[in-house]
Amino acid sequence: MAEEEKSFQNQTINWYPGHMAKARRQMEEQLKLVDIIIELRDARVPEASANPILKQLSQNKPVLIVLNKADLADPNKNLLWKGRFEHCLITDSVDEKLTKTVVNEVKFILKDKLERAKARGIRKKVLRAMVVGIPNVGKSTFINNIVKKKVAKAENRPGVTKSLQWIRINEDVELLDTPGVLWPKFENQDDARLLALIGSINDDILDKEELLRFGLNLLKKLYPGMISERYGVDENEEDLIEAIGKEKLWLSADNTVNMTKTIDLILKDIRSNKIGRITWEDAGE
Ligand code: G4P
Repeated sequence: MAEEEKSFQNQTINWYPGHMAKARRQMEEQLKLVDIIIELRDARVPEASANPILKQLSQNKPVLIVLNKADLADPNKNLLWKGRFEHCLITDSVDEKLTKTVVNEVKFILKDKLERAKARGIRKKVLRAMVVGIPNVGKSTFINNIVKKKVAKAENRPGVTKSLQWIRINEDVELLDTPGVLWPKFENQDDARLLALIGSINDDILDKEELLRFGLNLLKKLYPGMISERYGVDENEEDLIEAIGKEKLWLSADNTVNMTKTIDLILKDIRSNKIGRITWEDAGE
């Protein structure tokens, strides 16, 4: 696998090829035990937050895609993206109806399986699910919310085996309590940039100025007027970062724009949604 030959660093994990191979084997084993995969993605970057090899690992099991952190993403685009997937839910960490919604969706997706079990005389088949996703997508929070109690944060290191435990959500569905941690996409530079823009991976590995220029160009295209509304600048300025720094008076001692500070502050604004609720990928609308 080309992607396994590369190593990648993010906030919690060093994804070295050995780790990836181990995580992949572990995931393959765990997925054998479940009827359905619940794949969490970040609603702000629904494609870039997918794991590149989950399709190969999924053993043709149904996948329920959960666009999480929807509170941070563009509400209109959330709906457009939902329509792109066969089975998809939109959610966030304060969703009070999460348990019911997920249980109903899982039962709906697996209704044929339930019927087959019934025909064989199994009246109460418990459906088993596993939550997977890249780091920071909100797996632990999601599981805690769904089971309405604090589940220990999964050891966020690939290759660390924990004994498998199941958590009963209700009489129909149970969850593997360890979220499956998968490595992020990085075969494509733009995917890595999008993950860095939302703060999901550490931007130390990227050139911050280049990252921000990429982000601002995309924003101008996706949400014309958003930057000028936030910073009071003309979006067509040749050097938008400098123009913002000048407007906001983010200056150095010699009265020129302090580029480092300006870049950091704009990136911070983006990540804390001060500029607005942004979905960085088009749903093909
Ligand atoms: P993981 O297991 O997939 O690695 O993710 P985890 O649940 O630890 O969540 C990563 C971060 O994302 C946490 O913030 C968490 O609070 C936040 N988060 C999770 N779900 C949502 C959501 O739906 N909306 C929003 N806005 N944030 C969400 P943190 O800053 O790392 O920790 P903390 O502030 O919660 O202590």
